[in-house]
Amino acid sequence: MTFESDLLTWVSQAKSAISAAVNLEQLKLARLAHAGDKSPIALASRSLGSMDPQDRATFGKIIGDARAQVAAIVSERTSVLEEERDARVLLDEIVDITLPASRSQRGALHPITILKNEISDFFIAQGYGVAEGPELEAEWLNFDALNIPADHPARTMQDTFFVEPLDARLVLRTHTSPVQIRTMLENEPPIYVICPGRTFRADELDATHTPVFHQVEGLVVDKGITMAHLKGTLDLFARKMFGDEAITRLRPSFFPFTEPSAEVDVFFNGRWIEWGGCGMVNPKVLTACGVDTDIFSGFAFGMGLERTLMVRHGISDMHDIVEGDIRFSQAFGVGL
Ligand code: DAH
Repeated sequence: MTFESDLLTWVSQAKSAISAAVNLEQLKLARLAHAGDKSPIALASRSLGSMDPQDRATFGKIIGDARAQVAAIVSERTSVLEEERDARVLLDEIVDITLPASRSQRGALHPITILKNEISDFFIAQGYGVAEGPELEAEWLNFDALNIPADHPARTMQDTFFVEPLDARLVLRTHTSPVQIRTMLENEPPIYVICPGRTFRADELDATHTPVFHQVEGLVVDKGITMAHLKGTLDLFARKMFGDEAITRLRPSFFPFTEPSAEVDVFFNGRWIEWGGCGMVNPKVLTACGVDTDIFSGFAFGMGLERTLMVRHGISDMHDIVEGDIRFSQAFGVGL
């Protein structure tokens, strides 16, 4: 019977097309062609409608069997191809966790910044605040208010960067001491602050000088403050900077804004090193800032950060600190 043999042919064509599909896309095309709505088998099945009931039952069963066979092959092939695809995806997406990661170079804070943070943390832990002032400073605050008279050598053109127009009376601050004045004008005692910052002097860059450098200023104004408090504070500060063995020594000196004044030396690595200046805040300065000297007294100190760093780490050339070579910074750690 030709209908049946046609059907056999279609089923076997469907079988070979479906088994020939090597991936799920090809399988889909084969399924549409051999089992879809327009496939010969589907068309044959539609012709059942025009048959008489007896034939319809007979052929209906045969066609139904044929369709079931094709459906079974499709589903079998589908699971084979799906398994293959899953295995391939696993291989394609494999990650070799033993490969070295790509590294980008990390920056580092400048050693001066690290030192500044270290000093700030140390004083903050003792209840001090950190004050800042402008680098472009009023000549009056940089000198006059600190009792530095107009004929003081620090005021001559050799040391100070005066800024045009000259009648604006602005300078690049030559020290952080004007922040003392700003702090006392803006705050009532008790005052416990440090003022780290950038300072400027008309020096040539050489192994021990740089025209742009850093200082940290300390200022305490409270009832009953004596030189013993200053000495104790400097001792703690020195130990923090140079290690537990460090001791300090005060040598009489002169600064217009302190009375008495002293140079502070630190004993480090078997020798005395000049570290900074200090003293009891001159009553003239306190009075100029509106502080009642019958009630309050204070001490102040000022150190260079470059000098502190050079002494502590045995750095012999200022150029290393100033030039910003990352290899120099990295020796001090990242500093975060
Ligand atoms: N301002 C001084 C300088 O730059 C350093 C200094 C000395 C600061 C004595 C002070 C101080 O606060 O009491 O040379």
